[in-house]
Amino acid sequence: FYVDKGNYRHFMQKEIYEQPEVLSHTLSSFVDMTTGATRLPKGQAIDFSKVRRIALSACGTGFYAALVGRYYFERYARIPCDLDVASEFRYRESPLSDVDLALFVSQSGETADTLASLRYAKAEGLKTAAIVNVVESTIAREADLVFPTLAGPEIGVASTKAFTCQLMALAALAIRAGVDRGVISGDEETEFTRILAEAPRLANEAIRLEGAIEALARKMATRRHALFLGRGFSYPLALEGALKLKEISYIHAEGYAAGELKHGPIALIDETMPVVVVAPHDRSFEKTASNVQEVAARGGEIILFTDVKGASSGIVDGAEIIAVPEMPEILTPIVYAVPLQLLAYHTAIQMGTDVDQPRNLAKSVTVE
Ligand code: G6P
Repeated sequence: FYVDKGNYRHFMQKEIYEQPEVLSHTLSSFVDMTTGATRLPKGQAIDFSKVRRIALSACGTGFYAALVGRYYFERYARIPCDLDVASEFRYRESPLSDVDLALFVSQSGETADTLASLRYAKAEGLKTAAIVNVVESTIAREADLVFPTLAGPEIGVASTKAFTCQLMALAALAIRAGVDRGVISGDEETEFTRILAEAPRLANEAIRLEGAIEALARKMATRRHALFLGRGFSYPLALEGALKLKEISYIHAEGYAAGELKHGPIALIDETMPVVVVAPHDRSFEKTASNVQEVAARGGEIILFTDVKGASSGIVDGAEIIAVPEMPEILTPIVYAVPLQLLAYHTAIQMGTDVDQPRNLAKSVTVE
């Protein structure tokens, strides 16, 4: 197939901008928009009330989507989840006795380690399911159940729209699972799907932060290292934000659970270390705020992605604040991904790297 950049400078930028539209496509395959009820794509039936434990595995950005998925399934459906990068899952020889579903997340559906993990799970007698973007792929063909993300072709090596669509699919599946298990009532289900339907509008608002983020990126591009922090639902986002930045700008970036700051990375904090904090005003906010103050007390430069409530809480004077709209917690991973993508994108442009084809990386890794 041939995909055009249109008026965009890079595929990555185009793919960031496509998110509102593809999020709504993806949601529509998991939710009947007229009734607000969740549904599974045609022929892909599973009763989550029979699932005692889910083993999730994936690589790269898909792994961080799966980490959000774990938080979603555990929070909204009360299903315990295991999670491994695919290259570990296949060799860990974990006892899988109470695992009733192995769920794989892959944009390309061809990643060698993820495919090998899927085959391993099948050989162990597990039911397998895959969230994939390329429905003709090997992983899609071999999995028992396929949950497609409808992100459309993703060309930029750094995954953007596939990631947020994976999160959307995982959120919808977790709600569905919660309903199957009697954890979520019919009314709550409709409320959740109404909330998920707000994602495209909020992603659009997040895209409009581009100007402010571009200004931040100019500063980021003068740094050699960066730390990303988040807690709860924002922890996987901190990991993904750091991955995105290092992949395309070549600035060394590490993502940490905010609570782990004091167990190591705080030693690195000085005036030359930007600390990007993902902190919507959710149930984790106060705790993250106190971690941010520890950074401020050591002269670290703080870039805070939060909402109006978080911004007006006055947690740190002098922090650079990017204020994202307020939203229910389930949406924060999806929407906060957008400004993090834009930060990586504009920093890479400042650095003059090949944004769509960063050195040493491949879009689809078919070797172990
Ligand atoms: C490569 C790509 C990443 C991607 C990862 C997993 O490393 O550069 O963007 O997240 O593979 O790929 P998959 O297609 O399985 O999601």
